[in-house]
Amino acid sequence: MLQSPGFAFLITIEKLTPMLNLAHLARLLLTIGTFACLLRPHLVMAGDGRDIALRGTDTAHACASCHGEAGEGIPANGYPRLSGMSAGYLVHQLDSFADGKRSKVVMTPIAKALTPGERRSVADYYSSQSSAKVYDQQSADEKLIARGKDIALRGDWSNALPGCSQCHGPLGEGVGNSFPALAAQNARYLASQLHRWKNGERSSDPNGLMTGIANKLDDADIAAVAAYYASLPVIKPNSGAGR
Ligand code: HEC
Ligand code: HEC
Repeated sequence: MLQSPGFAFLITIEKLTPMLNLAHLARLLLTIGTFACLLRPHLVMAGDGRDIALRGTDTAHACASCHGEAGEGIPANGYPRLSGMSAGYLVHQLDSFADGKRSKVVMTPIAKALTPGERRSVADYYSSQSSAKVYDQQSADEKLIARGKDIALRGDWSNALPGCSQCHGPLGEGVGNSFPALAAQNARYLASQLHRWKNGERSSDPNGLMTGIANKLDDADIAAVAAYYASLPVIKPNSGAGR
């Protein structure tokens, strides 16, 4: 945006403002804005989101320092992967940090500092990224992963626990804007969220869907499903699920 010819023009216009009355100025700005958007629709939108991710805003930290430039996350710290997740889901989470349905010391002030438009553009940016999975140094053992796979695909009907794949997709790829991808997400982050639901610290889930599920998982189950989903490769969501 900063480099756009529209912006340079805008600065020139600002210098001329004393000569114009406000109504003229408003009309002029609208016209320039329309031109700038018509000329460079994708660059303007993607540029904003990328800018926020890489450089932050006056009031919000750059996301990339914790989530990575392409949204790969930092597994060792439990910073989540955002790459390729549905933009609608990401916006909903930023809204949830801002309105207190999720709370996290680092994310709450950052989400609050972003305008709704900025949340949308940064979500669009990360959603459009594809990045390789960053592997955790501590690899989980195969028994734990196998147990997690069983819970993920079959659930436990004796405990009225549906398989996670019923909502999160057969490969953990996520479904639409409501059911996030779990595949390739780091284990530390996945486990932390399941504990948050159990402790009543996250209420962003529609109809309390995840609260009911997390309450049926004990610590060993949580470690197992987290290890299973973290072991899966990056899977692109079905077409239509990316927004
Ligand atoms: C200082 C580190 C840090 C910075 C900077 C940061 N985040 Fe986060 N972010 C986190 C952590 C930690 C979590 C996990 C929060 C939790 O445990 O609930 C998170 C969670 C999220 C989530 C939820 C992901 C999910 O799968 O539900 C989104 C979306 C998000 N951050 C977006 C952003 C955006 C956009 C920015 C930049 C404007 C940003 N973050 C900057 C650390 C950070
Ligand atoms: C009935 C549907 C449903 C089932 C079954 C389900 N989930 Fe979820 N899950 C959701 C929804 C909806 C969300 C998004 C909640 C939100 O918007 O905050 C979610 C979110 C999550 C998240 C947070 C992801 C993130 O990026 O922050 C984790 C982790 C998770 N589910 C794990 C599981 C596991 C493990 C199972 C199986 C034991 C499971 N889910 C079964 C509906 C479901």
